[in-house]
Amino acid sequence: MKGYAIVALREDGTVTEWLADAERITGLSREEAVGTNIGRLFTEADLAAGAHLEEIRKALDEGRCEDSRWHLCKNGNRFWANGLTLPLPYGDAVVMKVFRDETPLKRADDQRVLLLNELNHRVKNSLATVQSVVDQTLRSAGVDARVRTDLTARIMALSSAHNVLVDQNWAGADLEAIIRDVTRAFEGPHSRFDLDGAPVQLHPSQAVTLSLVLHELVTNAAKYGALSVAEGRVEVRWNLSLDAEGMRFLTLLWREQGGPPVTPPTRFGFGSRLLASALNHQHGGARVRYDPEGVSAVLSCRLVDRGPAVAMAPAGAAAAASPPI
Ligand SMILES: Nc1ncnc2c1ncn2[C@@H]1O[C@H](COP(=O)(O)OP(=O)(O)OP(=O)(O)O)[C@@H](O)[C@H]1O
Ligand SMILES: [Mg+2]
Repeated sequence: MKGYAIVALREDGTVTEWLADAERITGLSREEAVGTNIGRLFTEADLAAGAHLEEIRKALDEGRCEDSRWHLCKNGNRFWANGLTLPLPYGDAVVMKVFRDETPLKRADDQRVLLLNELNHRVKNSLATVQSVVDQTLRSAGVDARVRTDLTARIMALSSAHNVLVDQNWAGADLEAIIRDVTRAFEGPHSRFDLDGAPVQLHPSQAVTLSLVLHELVTNAAKYGALSVAEGRVEVRWNLSLDAEGMRFLTLLWREQGGPPVTPPTRFGFGSRLLASALNHQHGGARVRYDPEGVSAVLSCRLVDRGPAVAMAPAGAAAAASPPI
């Protein structure tokens, strides 16, 4: 096993064998290591916590113990090791531990997390700045407070979609988490949203688009629909299918109930324009029905599975609302 150290340990951590790449990784020769305690490779804090003995105990009790942590070389340098301890008696040793130096990978990963945090911080700051600039500009132009509030809420929706992505390390976002995030501010003392659907992992770009579309639906429901009265409720159901080209296709139903009687609108605003255009470029779209008993909308889109983030490139209103992720 190239690149791996193999060591045999007694129950108290005494080293009885020091094989393969153990010397290269730790700097300790077989002669220096055998007879001493494996604890010497552990950091002061881990040693104090008894981590070296805990690995042996766990391997004996549970049949294996995997762990990743910083260790110390002979010269005091640190190395990041992924190790596996197994209950394999060898002479008077009770376990064998196999580990590998994964310091470069660990450093790259730490760097990635650092950059991601920095990026997240900057994006959130930029959105907060945009929000403040927009608000000040509209205020000094004497723009109606309602317009300012709507615009601020839309920028907040973007910022909030971003939070969900950050929570999941930009790996994408869970659809239900997105829906809960968008609807949270509209919940009453008892849940007003009835959510049902299998777990769906969304690509970051689609997570943001869907989040903005849902924001328009929920604000409309609060202004005119089911959420404008205490007893109104919204049902959200979704499911996945495969489209003609074998791609995952999401269909989501938004159905309002218990609100005031609905009459088909005579004017359409930003909400309708966003709904009409945001999902078109995803081989999908949105259909809204203004039935007297409540508005319902069916959203559909082909799911982006992998590859670079796809810019939404929507037309009209959506162009202004979709972030260039
Ligand atoms: N959930 C709903 N229940 C009842 N009527 C609705 C609902 N959603 C929308 N409507 C009607 O459809 C119209 C168009 O909605 P749309 O979101 O396009 O514009 P808006 O909400 O009036 O303005 P904007 O979205 O620009 O703030 C609304 O003015 C309202 O009359
Ligand atoms: Mg609206």
